[in-house]
Amino acid sequence: MANTVPARNEEYSTQEYWDQRYAQEAEEATFDWFKKYEDVAHLLRPILPVKTARILMLGCGNSTLSEDMYDDGYTNIVNIDYSPVVIERMRARNYHRPEMQWLVMDIRDLTFEDDSFDVVIDKGTMDAMMTAKGDVWDPPQQVIDDCAKEVDEVLRVLRVGDSTFLYLTFGQPHFRRRYLTRPNTTLEIQQIGDAFHYYLYILRNWTEYGFPPV
Ligand SMILES: C[S@@+](CC[C@H](N)C(=O)[O-])C[C@H]1O[C@@H](n2cnc3c(N)ncnc32)[C@H](O)[C@@H]1O
Repeated sequence: MANTVPARNEEYSTQEYWDQRYAQEAEEATFDWFKKYEDVAHLLRPILPVKTARILMLGCGNSTLSEDMYDDGYTNIVNIDYSPVVIERMRARNYHRPEMQWLVMDIRDLTFEDDSFDVVIDKGTMDAMMTAKGDVWDPPQQVIDDCAKEVDEVLRVLRVGDSTFLYLTFGQPHFRRRYLTRPNTTLEIQQIGDAFHYYLYILRNWTEYGFPPV
């Protein structure tokens, strides 16, 4: 198996690293950061009750999350990653799942229209942008700007009123909340696991007039 661990942690925040990593791996290789769909499906299904929801997957990599969600009925998924190598492979791998799309795109600069998705999912992608060298307690400005751009873009493309951004990470609330606290949104955090914890951040996007009537 190819050695795909970078010499320096901050390489995780470069497109060159990811392209090289995927090019070194076998064409059929898959890898899921943190959790697979089967580990979190029981958490996601109640949050995402509408299977026809239009879903955007940020930094899909060669994770099986999208194909497993597709096979569970969530067929309206658009997958993006800034590595053309992995997007090409994932498009070929999933040719028999025709409703899914695979696009080369930077999560900080989405080309989608405003208000065009019901759900956006990030599993481990914001984390990759946070690996730039520096103090985790006082992150470099580049990290703050990159994460802010991602969340700005997510909130722009999410439909106004009752749409959801799901972010699955190992990052504890102290280190992540600052990026996910925005006007007209609510943030719920679910802790996953017993010994080593992961976190599911659920950012709900409400209208500018507040919560929709129940
Ligand atoms: C840690 S991996 C997570 C992959 C997958 N989401 C998973 O759960 O296994 C990060 C992925 O995000 C992609 N990525 C990192 N920064 C990105 C950016 N700014 N725009 C688009 N993709 C990005 C990388 O190419 C890589 O495939």
